Amino acid sequence: MLLKSKDVLGLYDMPAQDINLILESAATMKQLLLQNAKKMPHLQGKSIVSLFYENSTRTRLSFELAAKYLGGTFSNLGVSSSSVNKGETLLDTGRTIEAMGADIVVIRHQLSGAPKFLAERVSAGVINAGDGTHEHPTQALLDIFTMKERFGGLAGLKVTIIGDISHSRVARSNLWGLSKLGAEVTLCGMETMMPPAIEKSGARVTHDPEEALKGADVVMALRIQKERLEGGLLPSAREYHNFFGINENALMKCKKGVLIMHPGPVNRGVELSSAVVDSKSSVINEQVTNGVAVRMALLYLLTRRKSNEN
Ligand code: CP
Repeated sequence: MLLKSKDVLGLYDMPAQDINLILESAATMKQLLLQNAKKMPHLQGKSIVSLFYENSTRTRLSFELAAKYLGGTFSNLGVSSSSVNKGETLLDTGRTIEAMGADIVVIRHQLSGAPKFLAERVSAGVINAGDGTHEHPTQALLDIFTMKERFGGLAGLKVTIIGDISHSRVARSNLWGLSKLGAEVTLCGMETMMPPAIEKSGARVTHDPEEALKGADVVMALRIQKERLEGGLLPSAREYHNFFGINENALMKCKKGVLIMHPGPVNRGVELSSAVVDSKSSVINEQVTNGVAVRMALLYLLTRRKSNEN
């Protein structure tokens, strides 16, 4: 089976069948990783370039490791030291990378829609590694993979996402992906953190953290973007923690076996207390490990699709 699109731009437009194909392939990749297989031939002769206009640790590095473990060539364009600083446009940068033979471009950009703009103008596959407040599909895929691995399936799973939903590309991608696979999503945050008309997405919306945590199988805390605190949209970090942060007391009230997730990087003592980050309920490091497997699967599936076209 092949992916429908040459690109991975978001989960809103991705068919459930493609999400399932990626999850199945990621499970195979994870088995290989568990066997410590770090020099495989899947991407031999393929070239992957990453282009990050925003900071990243997990996403950028896991794409690099994924490409290298599968035998591909990986190059990162350090945007801050590139000709972007001389005024080169996104399109010219993308076309330059393509002219050098890149099969896949992985891009993170501060503007929502930037990966789509590029994908429509180059023949290389484009993977959205996070665009503005729009989507972060590879993060959601690794989150969904982690939930599926732990619970065996997604149908009926109760997932609470808590934090600044309005500015979160992670929340959006998870909402679209989880809903397609039958999970029941609850979104929780103060009113200033909720996008208008979000109820129409089918998610349950609440401003009450106790209500949101009750009965949840998974609680995903979102990173508070400190730049938003200055914009007056959120109270101080301490106030945020008092109302919406998850500490040991809150964890004790959660359902037995609850999974605590966070896309990272965590602001310890803000979204989650340190004790919760390091607790047995936390699967934050597992998410990171699964991120490599999911990105291996994506690179493999996209290059396989491209080879099939030629
Ligand atoms: N979750 C995530 O996107 O982390 P990075 O910003 O470190 O890539």
